[in-house]
Amino acid sequence: MKLAVVGGGSTYTPELIDGFARLRDQLPLTEIALVDPDVHRLEPVAGMARRMLARAGHPATVLATTSVEEGVAGAHAVLLQLRVGGQAARNVDETLPLECGCVGQETTGAGGLAKALRTVPVVLDIAEKVRRLAPDAWIVDFTNPVGIVTRALLSAGHRAIGLCNVAIGFQRRFAANLGVSPERISLGHVGLNHLTWERAVHLDGVDVLPKLLESHAEEIGRDVGLPAALIRHLGVVPSYYLRYFYEHDLVVEEQRTKPSRAAEVAAMEKTLLELYADPAVDTKPELLEKRGGAFYSEAAVALIASLVGDRGDTQVVNLRNDGTLPFLPDEAVIEVPATITSAGATALPVDPVEPLFAGLVAHVTAYETLAIEAALHGGEDRVADALLAHPLIGQASLSGDLARRLVEANRGHLSWA
Ligand code: G6P
Ligand code: MN
Repeated sequence: MKLAVVGGGSTYTPELIDGFARLRDQLPLTEIALVDPDVHRLEPVAGMARRMLARAGHPATVLATTSVEEGVAGAHAVLLQLRVGGQAARNVDETLPLECGCVGQETTGAGGLAKALRTVPVVLDIAEKVRRLAPDAWIVDFTNPVGIVTRALLSAGHRAIGLCNVAIGFQRRFAANLGVSPERISLGHVGLNHLTWERAVHLDGVDVLPKLLESHAEEIGRDVGLPAALIRHLGVVPSYYLRYFYEHDLVVEEQRTKPSRAAEVAAMEKTLLELYADPAVDTKPELLEKRGGAFYSEAAVALIASLVGDRGDTQVVNLRNDGTLPFLPDEAVIEVPATITSAGATALPVDPVEPLFAGLVAHVTAYETLAIEAALHGGEDRVADALLAHPLIGQASLSGDLARRLVEANRGHLSWA
């Protein structure tokens, strides 16, 4: 089985390779194609991947190529993990909104919109190549903002599913809290990518969330960056991305006094690439654990194995709403537990969503609709409309000002600007 990884020169790739080696019984790979336009990243990462596989006695070959066509041709699955503009563009996403008093984040708020504008056209172009050269392949999208990118792919008729590690992270954390194996835990996870709440934690089918909140609210609060009292009050576990909403102004204050995450990551990436270039290094470096991608390879292996192997198990993915959340349009992309077979993902039924969460979900979904319009058709006015619709922005002069600045700063990555 051939798997293509677009953005294969990412410093995250050894995390994936480590998972492929550990979980080889689930996913019998024979060829891994790493595709990346940047040979200075691709070469050390591919060398590292080959050494890791050799050490593990894994038979897969590694093709390193700058050609999307060559990489995806004949693939059974294509994983997208690219970052248009690299950490430099991310740094703008994280710092520019701060100048206007808004949160600076790579997927939430104005930064997330800028990332969508840069990314959607590039991903759609790659997906057309997949359609031509690997028509039966599944596209698994890890590329952020995952909800918007997946929606753009699905609206263009591609065989795509969006994936994020937030849900699997909670599953593993709650399992550790309860001292049980992760397979026994399933989540009542609902919302949009990076805008989700755990409304239930089932241990062998029984909801233990109320008990978990009694015993572990402090610890969970620390993990998601929110006060334990708020979590107890809500009776659900918000993902740490909800902090950008529930504590927006506090986060802005903090961000103003700290280096950006992009700057931290850029420094780590430099060291990681040096390690990958060292022929003596053949195991995943500890430094990689300081990145945000915990359990990313487990999630990818599980999803691809179920798509290719028709396993029919339940996994949390990003997929078309199609009535699952009746207050959203069918074409919206939501993040919920779904049954995964060779026919794709089918959402499990979701209990009615309380207004406290549904309001925000509906609001951000409308923003995402406008974000896709702006990414597909361009124009500063469309960018401003998307910002005006965003719950964290929403004021006319602010939207206009941010739109102008974001377009200006991203001109080199926008065909229409
Ligand atoms: C989490 C999110 C990903 C995001 C990552 C950032 O894993 O789910 O969507 O890309 O964090 O990690 P980084 O190390 O780049 O800050
Ligand atoms: Mn994510």
